[in-house]
Amino acid sequence: MNPPTVRLRDVVEADLAHFFDHQRDPVANQMAAFTAKDPANRAAFLAHWRKVLASPGVTVQTILRGDEVAGYVLYHDWFGDPEVSYWLERRVWGQGVATVALMAFVAQTAVRPLYARAVHDNIGSLRVLEKCGFVRVGTDHAFAQARGRQVEEIILRLD
Ligand SMILES: CC(C)(COP(=O)(O)OP(=O)(O)OC[C@H]1O[C@@H](n2cnc3c(N)ncnc32)[C@H](O)[C@@H]1OP(=O)(O)O)[C@@H](O)C(=O)NCCC(=O)NCCS
Repeated sequence: MNPPTVRLRDVVEADLAHFFDHQRDPVANQMAAFTAKDPANRAAFLAHWRKVLASPGVTVQTILRGDEVAGYVLYHDWFGDPEVSYWLERRVWGQGVATVALMAFVAQTAVRPLYARAVHDNIGSLRVLEKCGFVRVGTDHAFAQARGRQVEEIILRLD
C-alpha cells in the first residue's frame, strides 16, 4: 500500500471545529483514556485551545490527509518534560497517517530528548511512537477521565 499523502501546517481557526468533532468521539476517548473532563463541552474546548495556541512553549500543527483535516500533533512541556501528543479522527485510522505525521513532526522539532505517554492498552499509539523511534523508559499511574479510574501509562523517550 502506498503511504498516505500527509502534510503538516499551522493551525487555522477553521480547524478547531474539526478538532472538537474528533474530541467528542467516544471510541477515541476510551482509547486515549487521558481526555477532557467533558469532551462535549464546547466552551471548555475553546478555552483550552485558545490557551494552547497562545502558549509560547507549545508547537501545534494540523495534520492534513489530502486536503482534509485529519487531526493534530502537539509539542508541550506542561508537566516538566518536553512531550508530544496527537489525535486523529477515526475515519483515517489504520492508514499510517499518525506514523507519517509524527515522523515529520519530530524531524522538524530540535528538542531532545522528547517524551510521550500512552495508556498501557493504547496499542495503536504505542506502535506509532515505536515506529518513530521512541523507546519505553518507564511507567506511571494516573487518573484517566475517560475510564473514571487510575490506569497505567507507558512513558517513552526519543533521544
Ligand atoms: C492512536 C492513533 C493516533 C493511531 O493513529 P493511526 O493513524 O491509526 O496509526 P497508524 O495507521 O500510523 O498505525 C501505526 C501502527 O499501529 C497499528 N495500530 C493502529 N491502531 C491500532 C489499534 N487500535 N490496535 C492495534 N494496532 C493498531 C497499525 O496497525 C500500525 O502498525 P503496523 O505498521 O505494524 O501495521 C489514533 O487511533 C488516534 O488518534 N486515537 C485517538 C486519540 C489517541 O489515542 N491519541 C494518542 C494518545 S497517547
